[in-house]
Amino acid sequence: MPGPSVGQLIEAARAVRLRARAQYSGFRVGAALETASGEVVTGCNIENASYGLTLCAERVALVKALSEGQDRFTRIVVAADADTPTSPCGPCRQLLWEYCGDIEVVLVNLERETARYRLSELFPVPFDGRQLK
Ligand code: THU
Repeated sequence: MPGPSVGQLIEAARAVRLRARAQYSGFRVGAALETASGEVVTGCNIENASYGLTLCAERVALVKALSEGQDRFTRIVVAADADTPTSPCGPCRQLLWEYCGDIEVVLVNLERETARYRLSELFPVPFDGRQLK
């Protein structure tokens, strides 16, 4: 079965963005993570009154996918309503690197694609398990 097109991933990221719990920042983000087998796992940001417990959309998608047994990934699309690219924060880059490796990261807003990277461009000198051996 062929995997989703980038257009379908973008649609999924924009759709799940509408479920964001962004009552403090007002900044809603959606993410669609593509697995190597062609499935799509989505996530949105979930905020909390303590602020610091906020979960980013990328991390929600990643932990959902891992807990469902997925372990190989190819792309992530991140959607936000912003003219400039909304790219994953530092902690999300660290986690995506650990569990997804050098995936493609596609950034979109509500109208268009704003940027596209490999994760290694966004996170070029990682700390990872290789240092612990
Ligand atoms: N946020 C994400 O979900 N992903 C990003 O890539 C950037 C920021 C969320 C966290 C917080 O709920 C809101 O956007 C404002 O920072």
